[in-house]
Amino acid sequence: MSTLLLVVGVVVGVAYIYRHIVVRGQQCTSRAKLHGKTVIVTGSNTGIGKTTAIDLAKRGARVILACRSQQRGEAALAEVKRESGSSQVVFMQLDLASLKSVRDFAETFLRTEPRLDLLINNAGIYMQGKTKDGLGLMFGVNHIGHFLLTNLLLDRLKECGPSRVINVASVGHNFGIIDFNCLNTHKALGQGDSFYDVLKIYCNSKLCNVLFTHELAKRLQGTKVTCYSLHPGAINSELARNTSSLFQVLLIPITAFFFKNTVQGAQTTLHCALQEGLEPLSGRYFSNCTARNLYPKAKDDVAAKKLWELSERLSGLV
Ligand SMILES: NC(=O)c1ccc[n+]([C@@H]2O[C@H](COP(=O)([O-])OP(=O)(O)OC[C@H]3O[C@@H](n4cnc5c(N)ncnc54)[C@H](OP(=O)(O)O)[C@@H]3O)[C@@H](O)[C@H]2O)c1
Ligand SMILES: *[C@@H]1O[C@H](CO)[C@@H](O)[C@H](O)[C@H]1NC(C)=O
Ligand SMILES: *[C@@H]1O[C@H](CO)[C@@H](O)[C@H](O)[C@H]1NC(C)=O
Repeated sequence: MSTLLLVVGVVVGVAYIYRHIVVRGQQCTSRAKLHGKTVIVTGSNTGIGKTTAIDLAKRGARVILACRSQQRGEAALAEVKRESGSSQVVFMQLDLASLKSVRDFAETFLRTEPRLDLLINNAGIYMQGKTKDGLGLMFGVNHIGHFLLTNLLLDRLKECGPSRVINVASVGHNFGIIDFNCLNTHKALGQGDSFYDVLKIYCNSKLCNVLFTHELAKRLQGTKVTCYSLHPGAINSELARNTSSLFQVLLIPITAFFFKNTVQGAQTTLHCALQEGLEPLSGRYFSNCTARNLYPKAKDDVAAKKLWELSERLSGLV
């Protein structure tokens, strides 16, 4: 009996330590205040985007919630204001699956807001489909929409330097590839709707985020703008909402024990946005609030430049 109690006690203890130390991960320790600074967080109506927005609003920043749904965006606006106690929070409509919407957003933002200090490209989707412009949905939303948005806002970021661009990627980029033939013929990072296809194409889009950051850092040399990509951890968010119901059911026990909550999941984004002295690490990839080494394919100069030039064409920048 006492042996059983001991075993149960040890298991519970180990589980507790695992969940509260390993899963929880490192916290952003910066105490930076952001009064007078303006930040944009894309996809901030839910998930880690929302908790990131709340944290930044608490620090005094003027926070622009850039979300696709008016209804979900306005609900989040009320919640972010309430949770942060700040009135300096604004909703501006942005659908990253539409190049026109990205341009309209940038135009409205540049006309109505004098500053931009932090651009947090956080929105992401895990689902097959097409954007309004006929791009693969994950390529279009996760990469091209943010690529165009960043480029349209770059002059304002430069004027307000030191400023930062944060691209929320994923450890999944390690499994990604960029198939330029497929991009040229289908404007997508892959085809097919199977479980494996969707996972693969998502990982490909996250590799785009990392390569985009790598190339952007080079182009920003000599300016006061720096950029970072990151893996936020495995997080209990809404990202899997469009996967099969069987997968969602199987995920529940795993999520409950091994996944971070959305406050824990925002910490690496906050670290990249706020940590003092990160500038020499511009272009690098972070996870668990630490700069990590990348495999060669994720810092491939040739692929990054090729992706940039293709993205310029597909986003209508050139
Ligand atoms: N969850 C994880 O374990 C995990 C792991 C690694 C990386 N990430 C990355 O973390 C980021 C945040 O994800 P999350 O986990 O917080 O997921 P989430 O809860 O699903 O939030 C994603 C956000 O992106 C928005 N979004 C989707 N499509 C959009 C579009 N066309 N235009 C504008 N916004 C759009 C969503 O808006 P709606 O609510 O209107 O759909 C939502 O606000 C993503 O880039 C994701 O790839 C997540
Ligand atoms: C994150 O870092 C903390 C502190 O260094 C460590 O205890 C934890 O195990 C790490 N978690 C992961 C998932 O790497
Ligand atoms: C994705 O999931 C959300 C939430 O369950 C749902 O409202 C939406 O219609 C789904 N989209 C597609 C295209 O299946």
